[in-house]
Amino acid sequence: MKVTVSRKAHFNAAHRLYRKDWEHEKNDEIFGKCNNPNFHGHNYELIVSVTGEIDKETGYVIDMKVLKDIIKDEVEDAFDHKNLNVEVPEFQDLNPTAENIAVVIYNKIKPKLDVKLSLEITLYETPRNFVSYSGN
Ligand code: NI
Repeated sequence: MKVTVSRKAHFNAAHRLYRKDWEHEKNDEIFGKCNNPNFHGHNYELIVSVTGEIDKETGYVIDMKVLKDIIKDEVEDAFDHKNLNVEVPEFQDLNPTAENIAVVIYNKIKPKLDVKLSLEITLYETPRNFVSYSGN
């Protein structure tokens, strides 16, 4: 019997979508307003979902306090109020789309969890636009 537990988190961050190796015209064509050289911000909403067996002793899949602390260390402290392109090493050469941010978050959190637990990251870039990644 497997149960999924989820925790919501939030961070504000700025980004710009573009490729250094493309001309400005091509970046504008593909990324539109997201290619604004002066960056723009989003209020990102994050849902971290952990699936596994319920521990017989504690009744937990994962202690929510442990999950909360992992999210704070790996995501909130690293991304909140940051310019993702400029200040976050993972995006030095990686376009900070919602898709890539979700993969980076997954890759930061997964090693902190018991290997028996599976992880899914859902990231809302706007209330209507969101992406999910579960390691596949
Ligand atoms: Ni954007």
